[in-house]
Amino acid sequence: MAESPVALLVVLRYIHVLAAALWVGGGIVVLAAAAVANMTPLTGTSSALLARTVGRLVGTGFAVFVVTGVLLTFNRLAEQSIDAAYVAVLVSKLLLALAMFRLAVPGRRPAATKAATPDPRPWWQSRTALIVGLGLAIYLLSLILNEMAELSFRSVG
Ligand code: HEM
Repeated sequence: MAESPVALLVVLRYIHVLAAALWVGGGIVVLAAAAVANMTPLTGTSSALLARTVGRLVGTGFAVFVVTGVLLTFNRLAEQSIDAAYVAVLVSKLLLALAMFRLAVPGRRPAATKAATPDPRPWWQSRTALIVGLGLAIYLLSLILNEMAELSFRSVG
């Protein structure tokens, strides 16, 4: 992949970063809706609509991250200058991403049971808050990866 056309890499990065922005941004919107719902509970239709939208966001985001992320990884690892520190940060990012996706996938409890037992915790201690926190940490690690790659190219060239 080292000689891949620049345009293809730009498209991959564009899709990956757009998915990251939608994922973290969408999570913040869900968190804000949960905070408001603490004061004014959402009606049945609003909460069903929100749950469906989030479900789609999770499914699509996961597929997009895996496909574009794997291709970006191959592209980076094909570079001679990439060192062990870069790989260590990348592995940490992947572990955090796996933990985040695991949390984002709804559990095995039937939907009816979930609706009947609302989460008693405040919104900032919720599963969504944890997912958003992990997303922000992953975002930061990605920027660090980018800087590490840039530095390694400069030190070689
Ligand atoms: C299967 C999971 C994923 C893989 C394999 C993956 C892999 C990668 C790789 C290799 C890069 C290039 C880093 C570099 O410039 O050297 C990258 C960039 C990036 N990733 Fe991921 N990623 C994954 C999931 C995520 C997730 C879940 C987020 C955010 C929530 C994310 C956010 C970003 C961002 C913002 C960049 C661009 C950094 C920049 O160039 O400024 N990634 N990813």
